[in-house]
Amino acid sequence: MRGRGFRVRHVLLALVAGLSFTAGAAPDARAKARTQARVEALLSAMTLEEKLGQLQQLDGFSEGHPRAEHATMIRQGRLGSTLNVRGAKTTNELQRIAMEQSRLGIPVLFAFDVIHGYRTIFPVPLAETATWDPTIAERAAHVAAIESTAVGLKWTFAPMVDIARDPRWGRIVEGSGEDPYLGSLFARARVKGFQGDDMAAPDRVMACAKHWVGYGAGEGGRDYNTTEISEHALREVYFPPFKAAVEAGVGTFMSAFNDLNGVPATANPFTLRRILKEQWNFDGFVVSDYESVKETIAHGLAADAKDAARYSLLAGLDMEMVSRTYAEHLPALLDEGEVAMTAVDDAVRRILTKKAELGLFERPYTDESREARDLDRPEYHRLAREAAGKSVVLLKNERDVLPLRKSLGSVALIGPLANDKQAPLGSWLGDGRSEPVVTVLEGLRAKLPGANRVRFVKGVEVEGSGLDQIEQAVEAAKASDVAVLVLGERSDMSGEAASRSRIDLPGRQQDLLRAVLATGKPVVLVLMSGRPLALEWEVANTPAVVQAWFGGTQAGHGLADVLMGDLEPHGKLPVTFPRAVGQIPIYYNHKNTGRPPDPNNKYSSKYIDLSSDPLFPFGYGLTYSKFELADLKIENTEIRAGEPVRASVKITNSGIRRATEVVQLYLRDHAASVTRPVKELKAYRRVYLEPGETKLVTFELAYTELGFHDRDMRYVVEPGMFSLIAGLHSATGLESTFRLLKAR
Ligand code: NOJ
Repeated sequence: MRGRGFRVRHVLLALVAGLSFTAGAAPDARAKARTQARVEALLSAMTLEEKLGQLQQLDGFSEGHPRAEHATMIRQGRLGSTLNVRGAKTTNELQRIAMEQSRLGIPVLFAFDVIHGYRTIFPVPLAETATWDPTIAERAAHVAAIESTAVGLKWTFAPMVDIARDPRWGRIVEGSGEDPYLGSLFARARVKGFQGDDMAAPDRVMACAKHWVGYGAGEGGRDYNTTEISEHALREVYFPPFKAAVEAGVGTFMSAFNDLNGVPATANPFTLRRILKEQWNFDGFVVSDYESVKETIAHGLAADAKDAARYSLLAGLDMEMVSRTYAEHLPALLDEGEVAMTAVDDAVRRILTKKAELGLFERPYTDESREARDLDRPEYHRLAREAAGKSVVLLKNERDVLPLRKSLGSVALIGPLANDKQAPLGSWLGDGRSEPVVTVLEGLRAKLPGANRVRFVKGVEVEGSGLDQIEQAVEAAKASDVAVLVLGERSDMSGEAASRSRIDLPGRQQDLLRAVLATGKPVVLVLMSGRPLALEWEVANTPAVVQAWFGGTQAGHGLADVLMGDLEPHGKLPVTFPRAVGQIPIYYNHKNTGRPPDPNNKYSSKYIDLSSDPLFPFGYGLTYSKFELADLKIENTEIRAGEPVRASVKITNSGIRRATEVVQLYLRDHAASVTRPVKELKAYRRVYLEPGETKLVTFELAYTELGFHDRDMRYVVEPGMFSLIAGLHSATGLESTFRLLKAR
């Protein structure tokens, strides 16, 4: 078995080692040249079957094919990557076959969906974005990378950077919400957290920006559904976080399931080749989504599997996940001249280059002792707790019900999610375990020790009417000083294939809340969900409301830190909360229209039965103190081409607690050759202020940040009148104008 493969590999290595043209070049350039030489040497030695093997990824666990087949395929050079196979011993065994028994010794690339943690689970990405602190996302992604590499993985299908304006869509939970600017900051942070400066380092994995592109805009919020998005909206809204990922050096992209303007994203030459590979010079590779190459048939693009392979490869799709149309049909397509070998070589080259950059040729194996050392470490849990706490958004706090006083006698803790160990893990839980999950009950009990200080009653199930403990819940509330209700969704009610047509509290949860409210006790409503819920009645009738999302392994401690005031509320909504499903899509950076909503004008853009305002706007989140903004000043109210805009605003903590706020800066372009949003987030700063303290916050926007894509899709900055709006959320703020002068 060894003889021939060994000889071929030996010759290739000698070839690479003997290259002399790298001498004298800078270290980076030398490494690049070595990688190129290795890849070219391999390419020229590969058979067609081996090339197609590199383009194939198979599911190690759930595809239904026996694993024995994978080992055989790896030995034959016909399988370059797997998903879901993990565990250092297992990956090492397969890798040994690739390195020692295959003809060319090309390592296998092991991938897995590590979305918000591998074993230590962090808040779901939407929640993590609610921290408005990308450094948390970066640190969390690094922890996820350490844990992933300890089990033999070297590639994660994250970050998911789809902009989503529709909370019916279950996968809104996986991204950063509705805003291209905030989404770009988090995309960059997560790519850096996973890959570091050198993804070959033993504690780093390669990232994958997904789903390219438009997946979040599925009609009606239905998963996998068709999208129609203008090129302008693509460039202004949906592309930016992907572009940010490319700029951060992301190694791979994943194509989306949806068809986009009539062409499935997996076989879309405009997005894959023209934008991504040509305009953005992306040098990594694109993997399809699960069987999405084959699904181009169901979309009605490809007539059959052979057609699917042709369309996808020519469009620029490099690696096929799970379906096998490339392996089965590219040989004939090449023979018939329908596909050129250069197209196949380009895909193989991209994949081999990333494998080389990952250091897999030099260090293909994982140190099996790491699994015992590098998972679930206390410092990871500390970060998970910080992230969980900082992602909590205080939505309402009448009569200062919160924070709960430490001296308080007792709390009635009520609701189906209050002691649920599964929900906080969210929809992608990696290899997270439910036992170590800290529930709200455990978190509160840790803060309020003593018999009977926290009385727990589940009350009802999340869905259905299988449990009726409403009376017991009412009794517990009556016997306590305050009632905390933890209501919302189970974790499987958002995520993939979990779109909802109603985004209210399912089951009998509202009945439970009504009954407890009727006791007259102060009530805190804690919402656990993977999406904005439309809870107009609940919010109007409950004195305190907190959005806790799915907070991960340390959810209960993080939430209790905020409820008890040990951590000031930090969270701000990364997405608009609607009043009703009928308002969707609703997002802050909408256009003005010719007839903006006007309560005194019937013929303006509004509903006759509901306000056009959201329940909570993007950027919203209260603190336990009070903040005021004053004196927004623009330093240079006449800007010449190329000059930045400088502004400052004062913020004062006029309350009686030390607290933190986020000063948000929005831009409005009043008149342009293409209509512009009413405002767009351009920058923000977090401040911490003592009671009575005032700080001056300064901003500088580069000239290029004032631009947009014009009718010809060129990025331009047009002269005219602009406003800067400084606010504590997107709905209101101080406004001041400046003029951008015509270039002379
Ligand atoms: C389908 C999902 O759309 C994608 O996000 C995920 O990475 C793949 N399955 C692999 O599990």
